[in-house]
Amino acid sequence: WDRLKKVLAGGEDKQRVFYLALAPSLYGAVSANIAVAGLKSPGARIVLEKPIGSDLESARAINDAVGAVFEEEAIFRIDHYLGKETVQNLLALRFGNSLFEPLWRRGSVDHVQITVAEELGVGGRVEFYDRIGALRDMVQNHLLQLVCLTAIEAPSSLDQEAVRDEKIKVLRALHPIEGDGVRTRTVRGQYAAGAIHGTPVPGYLEELGGKSSRTETFVAIKAEIENWRWSNVPFYLRTGKRLKTKHSEIVIQFQDVPHSIFPEQEYNVKPNRLTIKLQPDEGVKLFVMAKEPGPGGFDLRPVSLDLSFEETFGIRYPDAYERLLMEVLRGNPALFMRRDEVEAAWEWVDTIIAGWE
Ligand code: BG6
Repeated sequence: WDRLKKVLAGGEDKQRVFYLALAPSLYGAVSANIAVAGLKSPGARIVLEKPIGSDLESARAINDAVGAVFEEEAIFRIDHYLGKETVQNLLALRFGNSLFEPLWRRGSVDHVQITVAEELGVGGRVEFYDRIGALRDMVQNHLLQLVCLTAIEAPSSLDQEAVRDEKIKVLRALHPIEGDGVRTRTVRGQYAAGAIHGTPVPGYLEELGGKSSRTETFVAIKAEIENWRWSNVPFYLRTGKRLKTKHSEIVIQFQDVPHSIFPEQEYNVKPNRLTIKLQPDEGVKLFVMAKEPGPGGFDLRPVSLDLSFEETFGIRYPDAYERLLMEVLRGNPALFMRRDEVEAAWEWVDTIIAGWE
């Protein structure tokens, strides 16, 4: 702390940002020390890396401790998914177009799939990861944030609180998964040894040095949002490490046509599907049925209306962190998780963990 004081001496008029990428159990103590050391200059901000705790109780304790030093507006809880261009584009797609709105609901949408698949294993983070697992590492934050942006009602403006106020409503409307529901609505897995692009890779337990572990490296959940828009529309969430390819996407699967004039035995009519590709090959694809050109009656097949961000905009996107840290400097917390969001997400995740245990 003495060394840090020396480094910062004389810069009291500068914007101070403390960026904590530490074990979350230290966030409270570090915040207190920032205050004790007199380093919290007026307008100073603090950035907290995820995970904020490991359950609701620890998250509350951290939020209380950091909140004792920094005002909520000065606390920036990072979820780097919110800094991804394609994730922000969800808001543009939904609320910058009138086309989708009437269909974006029960009655038109059959189900939603949110997938974050990774090729990487846990590698050097195995010690940390074994205490965490996929549900806490990915679902509690990244996937639930994607659920929020897919499911929210239109905010009244882009104002930082207006968007976050809508997100918290989605989190609070998540049907709790507990008791028997944990068995019927969730699946866990752990990767074994295999090959990625033909290169052999070790299994999770081998990476753990042969210790036994029940930590999940894959999780799939059938989630439901209990409100007028989404009642009885399943949101299938899945994420895992060492899967076949790295890809993240949101699929809006629309319902079948109400009455088909193309008999099923002869025609392969598929319901429409909107795929929002978050990474790689960022873009949006809308699958529609089309007639194959040619004489001799109808031959139908799904074809896609394709928007590739790279082809359309032809620019390099800022890295998610680059954008988020810039937002911290600008003092705009819209792309960060508010305290109530983090806690509502833990509340939902906690009963699943309890059920597994
Ligand atoms: C991090 C998780 O938050 O997100 C990692 O802790 C995961 O386990 C990473 O690999 C995935 O991020 P991205 O941007 O590569 O999808």
